[in-house]
Amino acid sequence: MKEELEKLASESLSAVAAAADMAALDALRVKYLGKKGALTAILKQMGKLSAEERPAMGQLANSVRAELEAAFDARRAELEEAALEARLESEALDVTLPGKRTRAGHKHPMDVVIDELKEIFIGMGFEIDDGPEVEFSTYNFDRLHTEEGHPAREWTDTFYLDENSETLLRTQTSSMEPRIMETREGPIRAAVFGRCYRKDEVDATHSPMFHQMEGLVVDRHITFADLKGLLNSMAAQLYGPDTVTRFRPHHFPFTEPSCEMDVQCPKCGGKGCPTCKGEGWIELLGAGVTNPHVHEMSGIDPDTHSGLAWGMGLERAAMRRFKISDLRLMFENDVRFLEQF
Ligand code: DAH
Repeated sequence: MKEELEKLASESLSAVAAAADMAALDALRVKYLGKKGALTAILKQMGKLSAEERPAMGQLANSVRAELEAAFDARRAELEEAALEARLESEALDVTLPGKRTRAGHKHPMDVVIDELKEIFIGMGFEIDDGPEVEFSTYNFDRLHTEEGHPAREWTDTFYLDENSETLLRTQTSSMEPRIMETREGPIRAAVFGRCYRKDEVDATHSPMFHQMEGLVVDRHITFADLKGLLNSMAAQLYGPDTVTRFRPHHFPFTEPSCEMDVQCPKCGGKGCPTCKGEGWIELLGAGVTNPHVHEMSGIDPDTHSGLAWGMGLERAAMRRFKISDLRLMFENDVRFLEQF
């Protein structure tokens, strides 16, 4: 039995020292020290020994076990150390390697224009708003003094959402005018940005979804002169300090008087070129002094408070700004197009 133990000791110790990895080491532990392992098998024969032999043999068996356990622990520590070394080696960072360029996204041309306008109006003390795209006809039409039977309310032009024409996809950001007037104490200076919808066929200059900006000012003593001053200042900030503008009479149900505003083509200075389609002028927006009925319907006293408003299509502004010839490109989300801006 003594020889068996000694043989076990030398065999197992060299096996443990040579174990290549943790799995091999665990397998050896089962083989030598496990319940059905070699050491247990030898100890089972203890019963056959005489009472004199037993203590010495027991002592030998214990010291073999202790030696073996120490060898297992030592080999485990070695293997762990080596694994850590290998990991540090493989994860080493070579700071001299050239970096990989990440492809960062950037603003959509529409957002460039929208953010630029927001900057301009925040600078003039305006609050920025958006408001619901799914809207009540009341706000989109009635409260804007656009009564039943008005051509803008036709089913052929507007996406109604119910048979009674009570809800719709807003056709203009003007729908926010009564919403702002009824909830806000004056004075009001609001700039609204957002999507609008009309039943237009898609082509190079039309889309059933488009963006508008709405401006609204309500205060004491607001006049058409304020409107001109404000919009001229916007044009100067957008197109340069020498920009020439003109205001043409027009009709909108919710403003009185109403006008359209053009800027002299910044490209050709009014001579006529492809940018202005030979006109010399570029139509920018519709505007006016807010109709007293609109104020009244939203609980603002038209005798003490007057206002001004304007609405501007943003796609055309972006297309001019970036020389984009086809509106559809803006919404197709083809990165080959978007990457250019
Ligand atoms: N909502 C009008 C449109 O979509 C534009 C407009 C005209 C807005 C005059 C206004 C305004 O606020 O006063 O054509």
